[in-house]
Amino acid sequence: MLTKVNSSHKLISDNRYIKIRSATPPDLESIVNLENEIWSEDQRCSRENFMTRLLIFSEGFLLAEDQDSNLVGTFFCVKRNFTLNKGGYSWDSESGFGSGLSHTQGANGLFGVSATVHPNAPKGTLRNLFDGWHEVANRNGLKYIFGGSRIPGLINFEGTPDAYLQNILDKSLFDPVLSKYMACNLKVGILLPNYFDDMESHNYGVEVYDVID
Ligand SMILES: CC(C)(COP(=O)(O)OP(=O)(O)OC[C@H]1O[C@@H](n2cnc3c(N)ncnc32)[C@H](O)[C@@H]1OP(=O)(O)O)[C@@H](O)C(=O)NCCC(=O)NCCS
Repeated sequence: MLTKVNSSHKLISDNRYIKIRSATPPDLESIVNLENEIWSEDQRCSRENFMTRLLIFSEGFLLAEDQDSNLVGTFFCVKRNFTLNKGGYSWDSESGFGSGLSHTQGANGLFGVSATVHPNAPKGTLRNLFDGWHEVANRNGLKYIFGGSRIPGLINFEGTPDAYLQNILDKSLFDPVLSKYMACNLKVGILLPNYFDDMESHNYGVEVYDVID
């Protein structure tokens, strides 16, 4: 069962291994397949944008593969300037409308454009992709990683987005995206109105970030 595991794989949960590496153009087909399986049609990234992302900043295009070389997670980030709790940005502005063309040499941070993990991925896949995000930031001498988390649980909450966020922060509610990012040690900043076209989150994002030591 473990014959395909080599030294670049890491044991992350019961008998399950994972390897994090940067994507290359031959990975495109499996990246598109995973995206189409996980994201709804109106939110998924196009093949063209994936290709552009690969050409713009392949170092920040991370893949998680299981021990049988199945693609079980993807993560993409670009260099962007960040000021904590300032807001005033959207997913479109930071991601270049999903293309990665917003990538800015000399910026102080790495903006997380997209995180996708298959439900059958080994437990710990998201954490390992985020560790990879930290490593890319470190290697490039950047001060921050940051992004906007979806808050899909907001659609079922009766109250304001501020009240919802407070419930997530004090852990009286669990959001299927933001609470998982918190469990992976991302810090939480401000609410970002009109962040992303996302009915479940009422188009809000929540700033998540970390400071690179
Ligand atoms: C959002 C998404 C990336 C999260 O990935 P995931 O594989 O479901 O996340 P995990 O199950 O690894 O959870 C992350 C952490 O939260 C913890 N966690 C999960 N469910 C939990 C719960 N109910 N209570 C407490 N902690 C929980 C996990 O234990 C894990 O921490 P660990 O590494 O210390 O074990 C994934 O669900 C996804 O791709 N969703 C669709 C696309 C999407 O919305 N992407 C986000 C864009 S902003």
